[in-house]
Amino acid sequence: LKGQYPHFMLKEIHEQPEAITDTIWSLATLDPPALYFDDLGSAGDRLAAVERVVLLGMGTSLHAAMIGQRYIEAFAGLPAAADNASEFRYRDPVLDDRTLVISVSQSGETVDVLEAMAVARRAGALQVTVCNTEGAQTTRVADGTVYTRAGLERGVASTKCFTTALVALYLLALRIAQAKGRLSEEALASHLHDLAQLPRAAADVLRRRDQIRKRAVALAAAQHVLFLGRGLAFPVAMEGALKLKEVSYIHAEGYAAGEMKHGPIALIEPTFPTVAIATQHALRSKMISNIEQIQARGGPVTGVITEGDAELTALCDAVITVPAVSSWLEPVAAVIPLQLLAYDVAVHRGCDVDQPRNLAKTVTVE
Ligand code: M6R
Repeated sequence: LKGQYPHFMLKEIHEQPEAITDTIWSLATLDPPALYFDDLGSAGDRLAAVERVVLLGMGTSLHAAMIGQRYIEAFAGLPAAADNASEFRYRDPVLDDRTLVISVSQSGETVDVLEAMAVARRAGALQVTVCNTEGAQTTRVADGTVYTRAGLERGVASTKCFTTALVALYLLALRIAQAKGRLSEEALASHLHDLAQLPRAAADVLRRRDQIRKRAVALAAAQHVLFLGRGLAFPVAMEGALKLKEVSYIHAEGYAAGEMKHGPIALIEPTFPTVAIATQHALRSKMISNIEQIQARGGPVTGVITEGDAELTALCDAVITVPAVSSWLEPVAAVIPLQLLAYDVAVHRGCDVDQPRNLAKTVTVE
């Protein structure tokens, strides 16, 4: 089943170009540029009336939701907020029938997500779920479903379900924008063109394994690793940290880089490495200041940067390069090396990559 791969996690990381391709073209066509959301059901007709969006998830799916929030704000122009389902379910969230609740869950069976959906249902909110499992419980509760086409994911660490959820959320944000009359044909064609480049970019990252392996050997001895990002790269930093801690048992934290001076910079010393996600996004110059401030305190920095970025190559202590993609899709390109990094560190440390201690693939009890 694992074929040429020693672990499911590595196999699933390598399946991403195909999984991304399948997800994009199950929801859209390039010629003519169009979106097809066959499983949205009655939710499709109600999108035009939506005034606000809440996105829910846990773990990796919450990180996808955080990026989805930014897509919806930017493309559909609606207020949107991502929330941890286990917190949401125990609050008194303000929702109504003009609120769209998007739950993200690869399994569709996560108990906190299902309970949060029950809260949303009682409040009369419209619900759409982004799910990788045909007929799962979230798909039965929601008014409509957007399926990711990642295929079965067996590794406890979620990889291909994260990147395909990002693609699904990107397209769903465009579908909401369309329903709100905010998406021109030219803009749709341009977004789809950007998406069409993504599988090749993902495959390109996978071919850069050697530079990642080298970094993994260096990081495998660390006790703590800090992941930093800004904007769309902030949830990517959190995802990089989650991947590393769950499979390698190294303590890792993902932070919004702007938080550094509010506490975390006190931790920086030569034995505390940072991974800074500093691709070509709009906040790259702010990341450069963060990197300089860390280095001034003796902290070694590995940059995840866009290939050809000479300034960052010279500045960082080491770099992992990714190909240039549209800035909205940088999280997909930037997270793949972090998945490989976590995998390689874990293998180097002799950890059980597919079945990390204390973890289950699906969390069906609190
Ligand atoms: O099935 P779900 O997407 O709802 O699962 C949510 C989390 O339990 C899951 O993403 C978890 O954080 C993974 N082990 C992360 O790799």
